[in-house]
Amino acid sequence: MTQTTLLVTGGAGFIGANFVHYWLEKYPTDRVVVLDALTYAGNRTSLSSAEDNPNFRFVHGNILDIDLVDDLLRGEQINTIVHFAAESHVDRSITGPDAFIDTNVVGTHALLKAAKSVWLNGRSTLPHRFHHVSTDEVYGSLGPDDPAFAEDTPYAPNSPYSASKAASDHLVRAYHHTYGLQVTTSNCSNNYGPYQFPEKLIPLVVLNILHGKSLPIYGDGKNIRDWLYVEDHCRGIDLVMKKGTVGEVYNIGGNNEWTNLDIVTLICRLLDEAFAKDQILSQRFPSSPSSAGQKASSLITFVKDRPGHDRRYAIDATKCRAKLGYVPQESFETGIRKTITWMLNNEAWWRAVMDGSYREWLDKQYGG
Ligand code: NAD
Ligand code: DAU
Repeated sequence: MTQTTLLVTGGAGFIGANFVHYWLEKYPTDRVVVLDALTYAGNRTSLSSAEDNPNFRFVHGNILDIDLVDDLLRGEQINTIVHFAAESHVDRSITGPDAFIDTNVVGTHALLKAAKSVWLNGRSTLPHRFHHVSTDEVYGSLGPDDPAFAEDTPYAPNSPYSASKAASDHLVRAYHHTYGLQVTTSNCSNNYGPYQFPEKLIPLVVLNILHGKSLPIYGDGKNIRDWLYVEDHCRGIDLVMKKGTVGEVYNIGGNNEWTNLDIVTLICRLLDEAFAKDQILSQRFPSSPSSAGQKASSLITFVKDRPGHDRRYAIDATKCRAKLGYVPQESFETGIRKTITWMLNNEAWWRAVMDGSYREWLDKQYGG
């Protein structure tokens, strides 16, 4: 039987790294090659436990480098691409959209061209798959009573980030329709869990509580997101790749809608409880209000809204459940506790991240 050899783009990022760990554990005989440009969001240390695995290889490079991608596809006899690499933060897309067009649109197109050249023009007889990882943000914003996003909801992206992801989704679709490339696409809701770069809401709030920094809530804090534990996203992608129909799109979500203010308040309460239970935390994080017996929620600060801020996202995951048997395994209660525990136990990881761009970004954004 042919060995499955995956090219995981963006494997040093949040979801990509979780996916690599998930895959190597579940399919130990498969080979996983990561291609990552190590932008500010990419951390090689997120992959350190995979580095000794002979079935794992890390390649530092850009998806825009079509010759490199071509060489990897041929040299490693890759038969599956799982495409995570992207600029992923909405706020950054508002202040600097160019990188989003370069990586998310032109970069995805470079990968598609390389895949077509090696897998179709080379007349390879091996089965292949290009799985594209996308987002629910391509569907736009929901009103309070609107039905959740289904696979046939019309696209209405509102930010440069979501517009660039929408463009990439269309290119993937077109390469299937026009050239017969064997593609699948998944559009997922907000992820949380280990290795998430602390510019995103949940890890940002946890670290700011530990450091006694304000917790910035955009606008009125009533925007709604549908949160999914990252491993459940990986499980969903796995099912789409193994059981999904080529050329089709699958929405992955957790049926777990929260307002931002409720999420932040919950994290504050969980950290207050953790500090009350474990005295060592007060020694490790003396600037946290929780170590002075004050409530972490005292740090909540309402700030100017994100321009064009989408009000509500929600995923209708009926297709995934009905066609693939997909059911998320983590409840929000267990997932958020796991995430906070992971952050408390992995200080070295986030300190390494914070020493560079996080601190600069945070200080610039909120006046440190
Ligand atoms: P991330 O920002 O944490 O990681 C992105 C990774 O891509 C980083 O390792 C970065 O170095 C790499 N990268 C960026 N540009 C590159 C380039 N030109 N060439 C090679 N590597 C490059 O992102 P994430 O949150 O892990 O998201 C991964 C994918 O999942 C993205 O496509 C995103 O749109 C999608 N997605 C994310 C979420 C979420 O909640 N985070 C939800 C749904 C879908
Ligand atoms: O829905 C999937 C998307 O989820 C992914 O495609 C994106 O890559 C990912 O970044 C995420 O986008 P969001 O914009 O929803 O995530 P973020 O963590 O940036 O923000 C979550 C919500 O919290 C959003 O309504 C904005 C708000 N927010 C965010 C930050 C960073 C705040 O109120 N304060 C903050 O400081």
